[in-house]
Amino acid sequence: MTTGSRDLDTGRPHSARMYDYYLGGKDWFEADRQAAEYVVEHHPSVRTMARANRAFMHRATRTLAREHGVRDFLDLGTGIPTEPNLHQVAQAEEPTARVVYVDNDPLVVEYTDVLMRGTDEGRTAYLEADVRTDEILEHPRVRATLEWGGPVALSLVALLHFVPDGAYDLVRRLLEPLPSGSFLVLSHSTREFLTEEETRIGEEFYRGKGTDVRLRSRAEIAAFFDGLDLLAPGVVAAHRWRPDAEPAHDDAEVGLFAGVARKP
Ligand SMILES: C[S@@+](CC[C@H](N)C(=O)[O-])C[C@H]1O[C@@H](n2cnc3c(N)ncnc32)[C@H](O)[C@@H]1O
Repeated sequence: MTTGSRDLDTGRPHSARMYDYYLGGKDWFEADRQAAEYVVEHHPSVRTMARANRAFMHRATRTLAREHGVRDFLDLGTGIPTEPNLHQVAQAEEPTARVVYVDNDPLVVEYTDVLMRGTDEGRTAYLEADVRTDEILEHPRVRATLEWGGPVALSLVALLHFVPDGAYDLVRRLLEPLPSGSFLVLSHSTREFLTEEETRIGEEFYRGKGTDVRLRSRAEIAAFFDGLDLLAPGVVAAHRWRPDAEPAHDDAEVGLFAGVARKP
């Protein structure tokens, strides 16, 4: 693997590279593998969660491109690329699809060459920004990459559990300027199947690694869609959202709720 121009600290595990390891990707180092294996040993379903989440993103993107004519995608909290990435799914349906990726982790920019490799007819761009504080929709790169005549898919996949405070306002602010008929695609880690104690331990584990996390109940996750028209089957465990095959896991193992909704 290449490390790009910045000095990456490869001796310390990084959550984004660990996530790539769970997904079966190749952008991790030995320290990431060891830390990820430790987590797998204590929390064996973490791989299932990561894969179910990613597969939900693929199905939701495909559905919006194929059935709803969406050509413009704004993906916030992109993570390290793992194929197929969102633009590959969208452009396989519609080669002119345009995608902007956004993440605030400086590590991700090291891998963006993969995110830029799309069809000749389509466009992709990457923006290093914090979704909580930066005016993403106003950014010239976002304005220039997406077209604003049709619906935009706002993709917040496995992101908002990293936004403990102000998450509902954030979603409202992001959706507000988007045209009517735009879509919200969202998945979120849940506390629904955990005891209070398990939730506390889980949140503290991440906080101890410097990442603030809030696991939310199913009702709290469903509330992100208030005022929008949910596509069937509504807010469900991620692997039950229009599955390609009969779901093979318990909802508790997947540990994420997900949904797609249209802005009226
Ligand atoms: C679990 S990964 C999800 C990656 C991808 N969306 C997926 O579902 O496969 C969450 C990503 O969100 C990013 N992230 C977390 N908080 C963020 C923020 N405030 N602004 C931008 N990105 C953020 C992290 O850096 C990480 O890459």
